[in-house]
Amino acid sequence: MSDPALAVPSHDLFAPDVVADPHPLLHRIRAESPLSRVPALNGYLLTRHADIVTALKDRRLITANLGQGLDRLSQAERDELAPVLRSVALWMGHTDEADHVRFQQLLKRYFTPATVNALRPRVEHLTGELLDAVAADGRMDVVKDLAYPLPANVIAEMLGMPTSERERLQAWSRDILAVFAPADFERLKQCQRSVLEMQDYLRGLVAQRRADPREDLLSMFAAAEREGLVNEDEIVANCVLLLFAGHETTANLIANGLVLLFENPDQLALLRSRRELMPTAVEEMLRCDGPAGVIVRVTGEPVEVAGRELPAGQVLYLAMLAGNRDPEVFADPDTFDITRKPNRHTAFGLGPFYCLGAALARMEADVCFTVLLDRLPDLRPAYDVVDRVVTPPLGRRLATLEVAF
Ligand code: HEM
Repeated sequence: MSDPALAVPSHDLFAPDVVADPHPLLHRIRAESPLSRVPALNGYLLTRHADIVTALKDRRLITANLGQGLDRLSQAERDELAPVLRSVALWMGHTDEADHVRFQQLLKRYFTPATVNALRPRVEHLTGELLDAVAADGRMDVVKDLAYPLPANVIAEMLGMPTSERERLQAWSRDILAVFAPADFERLKQCQRSVLEMQDYLRGLVAQRRADPREDLLSMFAAAEREGLVNEDEIVANCVLLLFAGHETTANLIANGLVLLFENPDQLALLRSRRELMPTAVEEMLRCDGPAGVIVRVTGEPVEVAGRELPAGQVLYLAMLAGNRDPEVFADPDTFDITRKPNRHTAFGLGPFYCLGAALARMEADVCFTVLLDRLPDLRPAYDVVDRVVTPPLGRRLATLEVAF
């Protein structure tokens, strides 16, 4: 069979200038070639909004967002990591379609607009608590003091974990992120220890909720278990997934969003004077610098992608950062405009794997920025350069974000 790669232009997403600022190259690729190759990743890159939307909706493309971390292990390493691999295999989206749909239906019982609204006052309180802790200092590192602890505390709240356990949850979350670390075996072993520890802890909480149900997510799971819809291994594995899916993403939305406001003082001033723009401002943060820079898929069978037939087993990188700045869809795509409407970004994915926590993440960001602007009228940057960690391809997060107020 002829190799389709031969006819496709290739690009280096790992070149230092591209790592520092990928947008100029992404604009060029998008204009020149709907499908291109990234040799360092042995995969194909999609940059056009329309192609990304089509790919996200296509069930023949299998999710492989953890592929880099786990697929490159040796057999001996895989054997040692068997317990965590078994657990990850139970994560929704990593199962077959029937189990995936069963889990989505189940989680939709909890992630309703009513549940998200009911959490709002608690999120306001949790944000206030974090700001109280730094109020006297007149400065903080937004990453460490607000953006990371807030979503973790919200997930702790959802799971019904006592306040005293919040620190542990954050430590677990830090370790679990290693499933993304490309073939870093030591970090993956630490990840395994934390996954197993968290699961043991959750088994204890589930037992309590079976005996004494409350209004939280674990009580919902315990009820579904009684109905025969889910088992304990699936419950604890998917609670780990929720922590993994909802912590760093939301933290990055808050931190990246604040940098966008600082870099665009006219938009910050506009938001201060017109708070009703907060929902569209959050959408624009998601579009301009969304936490999921890239989504990975593998062709499960021969599939036509961006007008070309690709054989089964090909890796596709859907460059969300590029699609969300496609001039075919977004006027002045590099302009951060908090009044932009409509804003058809794909920061939460689309179709069969659409983010279950989208409404929750939107609400958390809305509350967080509202409380920040209300309480800190003089909030300003206290850094010289943005302290960003980049993980090719297209992963970007802030290491620190010093501010004064
Ligand atoms: C700004 C914050 C967030 C962003 C940008 C985000 C982004 C995404 C994206 C892009 C996907 C689709 C992945 C794919 O197609 O392969 C996804 C899926 C998912 N997200 Fe989020 N997410 C965020 C917050 C959350 C939160 C707070 C939770 C829950 C606590 C959550 C839970 C999930 C789950 C369970 C899935 C899998 C859905 C499925 O497979 O059916 N996310 N997220």
